[in-house]
Amino acid sequence: MSGMVNKQPQRGYGSAERPVIGVLWERDAGGQNQAMTAKGTYEPSHKSVDLKRYYDPAVFSDEVEKIWRKQWLYACREEDIPQIGDRVPFHVGPLSFFIVRTAEDEFKAFYNACPHRGTMLCAKPESGATIRCPYHAWEWNVDGKLKRIPSHWDFPEVTRVNGGLPEVKLDRWGGFVFINADPESGPLEEALGVMPEHLRQFAPETRYTKARYRKLVQANWKITQEAFQEAYHLYATHPEGVPFNGDSQSQYDIWPTRNGAIGREAVPSAVPSMHAGPEATPLQAAHVFAQVMKSWHYPEADLPELDSAKDIRAQIGAWHRKVYEQTYGRPNHAPDAVMLDSVLYFMFPHFCIWFSEAVPFVYQFTPHSTDPGLCYFEVRLLMPCTEGEPRPPSSPAVEVGIGESIFEKVPAFGFLGMIFDQDMNNMPLVQRGAQAADPQQAIARLGTYQESLIQHWHELFDRLLSA
Ligand code: FES
Ligand SMILES: [Fe+2]
Repeated sequence: MSGMVNKQPQRGYGSAERPVIGVLWERDAGGQNQAMTAKGTYEPSHKSVDLKRYYDPAVFSDEVEKIWRKQWLYACREEDIPQIGDRVPFHVGPLSFFIVRTAEDEFKAFYNACPHRGTMLCAKPESGATIRCPYHAWEWNVDGKLKRIPSHWDFPEVTRVNGGLPEVKLDRWGGFVFINADPESGPLEEALGVMPEHLRQFAPETRYTKARYRKLVQANWKITQEAFQEAYHLYATHPEGVPFNGDSQSQYDIWPTRNGAIGREAVPSAVPSMHAGPEATPLQAAHVFAQVMKSWHYPEADLPELDSAKDIRAQIGAWHRKVYEQTYGRPNHAPDAVMLDSVLYFMFPHFCIWFSEAVPFVYQFTPHSTDPGLCYFEVRLLMPCTEGEPRPPSSPAVEVGIGESIFEKVPAFGFLGMIFDQDMNNMPLVQRGAQAADPQQAIARLGTYQESLIQHWHELFDRLLSA
């Protein structure tokens, strides 16, 4: 059998008119940045996944101890807690922490449990100069130092020295707040890998949260994240995107970090998929892209006049730069890739940021507190601020229940709202099917190239869970 294994996997499938994204990037008139010239340094070879991993309570508990308590986790954005004393909970499976702004440019993270009898201290976003437990009113300053215990005479062993709130590590990048409950963990910088360098020009720290939805999904958190780690499902699940998204022409890159990985999925936009019929052309794809952008981000903009005799991608990239400048009051020098394509960076285990002016989303996937068959999928729209105007306030999280559609609720998600609903409709089917599979062949079979990010995430689960 081993003779049949293709040693050099085919890295995508394109044509002269619909080239793979790497070829488009080499040709781009808008130039290349360091992210576009960088190539992944690792190829996984983990083509099957035991489906038990998606529903077994023992795996779920193992993940809590060996992943969620050990990794750097994206918890919130700085602008979610703009004032000193503002705080938000971060729930991840049965674990819970809360993040507090303790000074203008200082944040702390604490275990979300009262040192008296364990009551959760921050169940929802709150503010105030002190943190007070609702049960018996033990009270701390926002930096975690003990302030007051009613009837303190009854707790002579609790002092101002030992009565502070237990803290976990916190660090920040790009306006994102990360925490790590493992005091032995390496620095955040190590876990971020190539992201800060690749996304420097994108400057996530200068953006704001325009919309934010947190949906309860009837599927394991890994199943839900995997729905975004490959473009292979586009033509079946999102047929409307086939004329202007090059799913099979996508590129996948992996950069291992010491304890995890950065994975990148890059899907060319404004070009037809290889699955689209011969009637689909780059010119039409560019027109659809412009219409989607206008109706979503640039209602005031004029649609581009495209000359089919010239480089379509260069024209549509230049059009996007122009309407960006008209809208935000400053030029954008990003390459065509950032203006047009869908480039997603995943940081192990559960963080995803789109490197895209077209679709500037951030995702977070977190397990439910008790049920491996449920998770939370949080979507943020991270928009640029307008030059010379104050940063708009961060949109609070809207909770969306099982079965509720995101699309209907969120005009701010534009065309992508419908795409999310299509993805979410698959999720309960994948979860139920995983449990219904023939026990003799209860595995997922992953594609060699297009599903390579999923392969590597499972290699990491194997390594970390068996440690
Ligand atoms: S449990 Fe918090 S003060 Fe009693
Ligand atoms: Fe999708």
